[in-house]
Amino acid sequence: MKPVTVLTLRDMKRAGEKIACLTAYDYSFASLLDRAGVDLVMVGDSLGMVVQGHESTLPVSVAEMTYHNACVARGVKRALLVVDMPFMSYQQSREQALATAGRLMRRGGAHVVKLEGGEPMAETVHFLVERGVPVCAHLGLTPQSVHQLGGYRVQGRGEEAAERMRREAKILEQAGASLIVLEAVPAELGAAITQDLAIPTIGIGAGIDCDGQVLVLYDMLGIYPRPTPKFARNFMPGSASIEDAVKAYVAAVKSRAFPGPEHTFRQA
Ligand code: KIV
Ligand code: NA
Repeated sequence: MKPVTVLTLRDMKRAGEKIACLTAYDYSFASLLDRAGVDLVMVGDSLGMVVQGHESTLPVSVAEMTYHNACVARGVKRALLVVDMPFMSYQQSREQALATAGRLMRRGGAHVVKLEGGEPMAETVHFLVERGVPVCAHLGLTPQSVHQLGGYRVQGRGEEAAERMRREAKILEQAGASLIVLEAVPAELGAAITQDLAIPTIGIGAGIDCDGQVLVLYDMLGIYPRPTPKFARNFMPGSASIEDAVKAYVAAVKSRAFPGPEHTFRQA
């Protein structure tokens, strides 16, 4: 069982093999996901909402991310471990970003750190990558900017916004990002960005043509008590256990059965 690396994911993209990702926040789920064949486990700052019950991801601290990261890391043997840098732990300066990334990698066991934002983050991405910190970027609906965006809404609709996101994705790749998450964008835009880049795109509400898919674990198990986004699918109905549901998710991503049209936004 060879561990998944950023190079494995790039090879998968080249070979047209879909990348299956889920979030995890603790040891037992992380271990289950890893055994079920999830390629990439993400410790998302979505934990602020689904674990802590906050209304957004903004209150999450680096200490909390490090704690959950360390719990998850003990359960993961094969998957690549990507961890979110939380709100205002990397935006202030590239030095602040490096210090946060260092903490998450040394104390949490992260393989890759994730940050939200486009062109303004490119310099930070480059600074981290030059110092041996692999970075996953995140474009489209960036939940840490929810108040700036005016809510959890589809991004990149219309030609101008789409062109801008394509340009920003390219800039992030050129800055050295290893991966890009695309959240809540029209499928046409998800496909275009995926074609533009050599690095893998991981979609969440970004259409079937992204190189991989990710969902928040508790949405995928149907246990988050608040309304969930259109792009989420509950895999528990028809599954005999949580492990079966996770395996069904992995199979659906690999076979391109998920996301379906009902989970997909269109341009216009
Ligand atoms: O916080 C999170 O869970 C995420 C992924 C769903 C992309 O950012
Ligand atoms: Na996140």
